[in-house]
Amino acid sequence: MAESPELRTMRMPLNHGNGQMPVLGFGTLIPDAAVTRTATRDALEAGFRHFDCAERYRNEREVGEALQAGLAAGITREDLFVTTKLWNTNHRPERVEQAFNASLDRLGLRYLDLYLIHTPFAFQPGDEQDPRDRNGNVLYDNGVTLLDTWRAMEGLVDRGKCRAIGLSDISLNELLPVYESARIKPAVVQVEAHPYLPETELLKFCQEKGMLLLAFAPLGHGMRPGLLEDPVISAIAARLGKTPAQVLLAWAVQRGTAVLTTPKTPARARENFDISALPEDAFNEINRIQIRQRLNEVVKTGVPGFIAQGK
Ligand SMILES: NC(=O)c1ccc[n+]([C@@H]2O[C@H](COP(=O)([O-])OP(=O)(O)OC[C@H]3O[C@@H](n4cnc5c(N)ncnc54)[C@H](OP(=O)(O)O)[C@@H]3O)[C@@H](O)[C@H]2O)c1
Repeated sequence: MAESPELRTMRMPLNHGNGQMPVLGFGTLIPDAAVTRTATRDALEAGFRHFDCAERYRNEREVGEALQAGLAAGITREDLFVTTKLWNTNHRPERVEQAFNASLDRLGLRYLDLYLIHTPFAFQPGDEQDPRDRNGNVLYDNGVTLLDTWRAMEGLVDRGKCRAIGLSDISLNELLPVYESARIKPAVVQVEAHPYLPETELLKFCQEKGMLLLAFAPLGHGMRPGLLEDPVISAIAARLGKTPAQVLLAWAVQRGTAVLTTPKTPARARENFDISALPEDAFNEINRIQIRQRLNEVVKTGVPGFIAQGK
C-alpha cells in the first residue's frame, strides 16, 4: 500500500520514454462538445495535469482547445501528461501514423506523452468507426494481428512521435504474447478497475513487469445503484469525513494503480482532485468487498460500452 498524504500530486515513472504519469487523470469520454470544453478547463483549474483522450470520443478538438487555454495561461507543456488512443479501424500498420498525426493535430499538440491501442480488436479499416454488416454484426479485420499494430506503435516511439505506448481493454491472456514479443514493452495498460472488478491478477503482472495499470470507471462510471452507494464505501466516507468518490479514488491510488475520473462540474473536479490516503483498516475493508461486476463489455468485443453506437 502506497504511504503518501499527497496522493493527488503523485507521479509514477514509466518504463520507457523518461516520462512520469500523474496518478490522478481526467478522462474525456464526454459526449457533449461544450461540456467537454468546460469540464476540461475545470479539471485543469482544480489541479489535474493528466488528460486521457481518444480518437473514438470525437472531442479531441474541444479537449485541445481547453488545454491550449491552460497553456496560454501559464501551465507548461512539460507539466501536462496527455494520452490519446488509436481506434479499432486504424490497426493496419500503414494507418497507425496517419491516425496518430490526425489526433495530434486535433489536440493542437506537438507530441503525446502516451499513445494507447484502444482495444485489441481490429475493425474493418475505414472512416466508419463502427462498421457493421446488414444484420448489425461488427465487421472485424482478420488481416492484421495485434502484434503488427504494436510494431507500428513502436515505430512512433522510434521516430520521436510519442514518448510512450501502451494498450487498453486487454485481458492478461491477450497481453502476455504482446509483452513477450514487444521490443518496446508496454508502459501502461488501461482497463476497467474498481472494488467490484479489482483486476488483481493483471495488476500483479503489470507491477512485476514494470507496467502501470491505469484504472477507468473507478467510481463505477457514476452508475446508481453502484459503488458510490455501496454500504462499505459510504460508511468509510462518513467515518472519515470524505465523499464516496474521494474514498474510491484514494483506494485506487493506494493499491498502486493510476486512475481516470470524469467530473463534469467545477465542484466535482475539486472534490475528485482533493484526495488523501485512507487509514489501513479502511483500505483493507474495501479489499474485502466480495461483489464482482464488470460495467463495460468492451474488453470482450471491442465495441465501447459507455459510448452510444453510431456516434
Ligand atoms: N479504455 C476504455 O475503453 C475506456 C472506457 C471507459 C472510460 N475510459 C476512460 O476513463 C475515464 C473515466 O471513466 P468513467 O467516466 O467511467 O469514470 P468515473 O469517474 O468512474 O465515472 C464518471 C461518472 O461519475 C460521476 N461522478 C464523477 N465525479 C463524481 C462525484 N464526485 N460524485 C458523484 N458522482 C461523480 C459523473 O456523473 P455525472 O455525469 O452525473 O457528472 C460521471 O458521469 C473516461 O472519461 C475515459 O477517459 C476508457
